Amino acid sequence: ARLQLDVVTIFPEYLSPLRESLLGRAIADGLIDLSVHDLRAYAPDRHRTVDDTPYGGGAGMVMKADVWGRALDDVVRPGPGTTLVVPTPAGRPFNQSVAAELATRRQIVFACGRYEGIDQRVADHAATTVEVLELSIGDYVLAGGEAAVLVMVEAIARLIPGVLGNPLSAVTDSFGDASVGLLEYPSYTRPLSYQGLEVPPVLLSGHHAAIARWRRDESLRRTARRRPDLIAALDPATLDRADSSI
Ligand code: ADE
Repeated sequence: ARLQLDVVTIFPEYLSPLRESLLGRAIADGLIDLSVHDLRAYAPDRHRTVDDTPYGGGAGMVMKADVWGRALDDVVRPGPGTTLVVPTPAGRPFNQSVAAELATRRQIVFACGRYEGIDQRVADHAATTVEVLELSIGDYVLAGGEAAVLVMVEAIARLIPGVLGNPLSAVTDSFGDASVGLLEYPSYTRPLSYQGLEVPPVLLSGHHAAIARWRRDESLRRTARRRPDLIAALDPATLDRADSSI
């Protein structure tokens, strides 16, 4: 039940960090298979053309449907276990729940667009054989999908059982548990005093209920200051009476 990851790009070397650290370990351990494909290998002409001017006019170039079609015919395994991910700032938001859903797939193919994007018929046609998700990693514009793929693959891979050293740490972080919906509380380790700053005394008290209460309050305080949108989205049923004093 290993996960097959395929990335199609005109910059294959951009994806080499995927073979490092966490991902490299998972690939070496046989938990994940990764293949990176050069889109230009599927261009039929001598110049390996992958783009053309947009119908309707406008700035920039559009990546050609026929070149992408040949590449995806070669890489995509048709069927319900496969998802084609197209990174684009015009996509739906990529978040922890999308990552968790993708971590359950058998094959994920990432189609990296450059320039002004990929002819829309590529995604529309692929959707007749596999699930297609056009996804954005945030409200800013990158030069292409490659950096977004690095982000998404790291978020997905660490949710696969056996990829992380400690399987529990995947669920306790900020956003790790959708039912909590709060930012992580601050953490401290030795020394007790650093640059005149002390570790909060409650953490040294050995009083487990008091520590849990303090961490919960810090999570609420942080979330209210940094991400008021998350407070507004909280299910009131997940708040307890003591929370309301923050
Ligand atoms: N390609 C360019 N910008 C992007 C973004 N914000 N998210 C995903 N893919 C992109």
